[in-house]
Amino acid sequence: MTVHDVSDTQVPGVTWGSDKPGEVRWERVCPLADLFPERGAAALFGDVQIALFRLPDDAAYGVHAGRVYAVQNLDPFSAANVMSRGIVGTRGGEPTVAAPVYKQVFSLATGACLALADKAPKDDLPADLVTYPVEVREDVVHVGLR
Ligand code: FES
Repeated sequence: MTVHDVSDTQVPGVTWGSDKPGEVRWERVCPLADLFPERGAAALFGDVQIALFRLPDDAAYGVHAGRVYAVQNLDPFSAANVMSRGIVGTRGGEPTVAAPVYKQVFSLATGACLALADKAPKDDLPADLVTYPVEVREDVVHVGLR
């Protein structure tokens, strides 16, 4: 897996998409076209690793079709930075990602762990994933970091 270091590509003065303007730092990630639908990609901002997922324009994803989601790349159950290698799917219409190691299922929309797969998180990590706001501006993906 290649981790893109894009920490020097901060977008100045962009504060939309947040309920707390000024507390989110928006960062450019990559052109939308660089994200392959249903295949995760990892991005590195300083020491923060993020996993990005672009959903296909497919009726199976309902209102979420074509959207991009960003969650922590750290898998709480294996303590490895592998969530970008997870398997994308849906549960009751909610977009999900299954961890590649032990197959826990997480909501891409909320980060909530929806299936523990008979495991507990490692190192007292929270079971739920941190999510990051995503905006696509002029076909460029941006994420909001806190
Ligand atoms: S080339 Fe694989 S994540 Fe960027």
